[in-house]
Amino acid sequence: MATTTSRTAGAAEFVPEGADLAALRRAATGCRGCELYKPATQVVFGSGPETARLVLVGEQPGDVEDRQGEPFVGPAGRLLDKALDEADLAREGVYLTNAVKHFKFVPAERGKRRIHKTPTRGEVVACLPWLRAELARVRPDLVVCLGATAAKAVLGSSFKVSERRGRVERVEDQDVIATVHPSAVLRAPDRDEAYRGFVADLRVVRAHLG
Ligand code: URA
Ligand code: SF4
Repeated sequence: MATTTSRTAGAAEFVPEGADLAALRRAATGCRGCELYKPATQVVFGSGPETARLVLVGEQPGDVEDRQGEPFVGPAGRLLDKALDEADLAREGVYLTNAVKHFKFVPAERGKRRIHKTPTRGEVVACLPWLRAELARVRPDLVVCLGATAAKAVLGSSFKVSERRGRVERVEDQDVIATVHPSAVLRAPDRDEAYRGFVADLRVVRAHLG
């Protein structure tokens, strides 16, 4: 369809066909599928073993991830590590990634942490070819969507985490479950309660893996 806008066509043309995770990761450094690569420090691709039975999908890298180039290495990652541990899931055996691979943020004053900005639906859709390629390569037993952005990316834009969290659903031959995002637990008015709910969902994940 002809268009007069400068909207980019998404990540598809940058995703090498039949590539393994290492090659996908390398190719993602050159992605120009949307505008988010411009202000970000670097792409933050998924991380973990190709043999993982579990893929965890977050929203997008945060401030610390953008600087270090690895997913879930900041405050949300620390909470996630603790919760995984409590649910008897080892992080080493999990493939961790995000719906969107570049950090979207509002610039902060010098020396301050930059403020995360939720990606638009268009940006999530633009980045989806990377997540699809990761899932096709890892072929996990279960995909865990952390928060609304990941859940909408994988389960459709009408998905409501508050209504459907903690239940394994079958989507396009893939078992998927959604729960809250660890950052939402950190921000919750009753953090202990939110954390218990998060761990309870991860225990459903643990039970599903058998
Ligand atoms: N939040 C996410 O969704 N992903 C990260 O990698 C870090 C924080
Ligand atoms: Fe490509 Fe995704 Fe980064 Fe956009 S956010 S440039 S689609 S990797």
